[in-house]
Amino acid sequence: MFGRHFLRNGDLTDTFKIKMKIALITGSSGLVGGESVEFFQSKFDRVIGIDNNMRSYFFGKDSSTVWNKTRLEEKYPNFESRDADIREYNELERIFQEFGSDIALIVHTAAQPSHDWAAKEPLTDFSVNATGTLNLLELTRIHCEKAVFIFTSTNKVYGDTPNFLPLIEGESRYEIDESHPYFKNGIDEVMSIDQSKHSVFGASKVAADVMVQEYGKYFGMNTGVFRGGCLTGPNHSGAQLHGFLAYLMKCAIQKTPYTIFGYKGKQVRDNIHSFDLVNMFWHFYQAPRQGEVYNAGGGRYSNCSMLEAIAHCERISGNAMSYAYAEDNRIGDHMWYISDLTKFKQHYPQWDWTYDLESTMVEMYKAMANR
Ligand SMILES: NC(=O)c1ccc[n+]([C@@H]2O[C@H](COP(=O)([O-])OP(=O)(O)OC[C@H]3O[C@@H](n4cnc5c(N)ncnc54)[C@H](O)[C@@H]3O)[C@@H](O)[C@H]2O)c1
Repeated sequence: MFGRHFLRNGDLTDTFKIKMKIALITGSSGLVGGESVEFFQSKFDRVIGIDNNMRSYFFGKDSSTVWNKTRLEEKYPNFESRDADIREYNELERIFQEFGSDIALIVHTAAQPSHDWAAKEPLTDFSVNATGTLNLLELTRIHCEKAVFIFTSTNKVYGDTPNFLPLIEGESRYEIDESHPYFKNGIDEVMSIDQSKHSVFGASKVAADVMVQEYGKYFGMNTGVFRGGCLTGPNHSGAQLHGFLAYLMKCAIQKTPYTIFGYKGKQVRDNIHSFDLVNMFWHFYQAPRQGEVYNAGGGRYSNCSMLEAIAHCERISGNAMSYAYAEDNRIGDHMWYISDLTKFKQHYPQWDWTYDLESTMVEMYKAMANR
């Protein structure tokens, strides 16, 4: 970005450069992208979003994220959203050419995010999740190689390996055997991502995850991979196929029937509020590493089974939920997954969770009931 500088004769020259600091956020109308816009708008001169509302193609009109884009553009004058598709290298290139090395941070959240949907159109899933990520990495390398590149990966990169842990069935949830090393803090980054069933979605995310690591390790760029558990918050456009807590709360508020898929509803997920996740990105940005990988979820601090989540929704909304049970679990779905954040906390000791499950769900209820 060139600053305007007038010579004595009134001519304009561009020799006087003012360095702008820009954050580029893909998937900026979605849950994590939108939270990133809110978080970074006060820390950067400009925030440029990229989102083509492909979520409504994946999950239907009810899942459109346009409302969030409009809300963010109205609220933050230094935010602007571009309707580009991350699968289209040329469209992205124009944006990278425009802002060049002023881009100091890239938060890449745009994705096809559902297991089940991916099996319908594997080519589309792979082109968004894997090729889209490679497009962004390569353009970062060419135009702003010093920028910090953050990628929202997923715990599905571990495939169904967590299902082979020694799990014990309790009254309302599965739990791991107390003698297992994962009992205390959950699953760490050492778990293999190889030789398991990932789902088509999990496999396309593995491709992207490894590429982001590679651009850090091979090219020396500042890249960070954050393997999310359940990411949640009031601004999720919850759909049956993605965004389980938001969708469950929406069903509780609207009294819509909900279907539990398999595992007797005792499958356990850890849930992290999108604010706490984006705060992890901020800590990483300030002291970046190259090709580092972190598990990112609610950990032991914030987790629940499906049955427990339903009980919470009923209590908070004051509505009894009507739900059905389907015997077949989603293919590759985890029975028990709790993220271990020990490594991140060791690297960034100033960071901690600010939302537990209760405060996340109450905030979600209030925002969704108003909407
Ligand atoms: N929400 C979760 O529980 C969860 C868990 C683990 C990992 N993740 C990962 O975190 C990231 C963000 O998830 P989220 O819940 O915010 O998703 P989201 O669906 O709310 O947001 C993603 C946004 O990306 C946009 N998008 C999709 N394809 C695009 C394309 N081709 N070009 C431009 N924009 C496109 C969508 O329109 C949407 O607004 C994703 O990478 C997802 O895989 C999410």
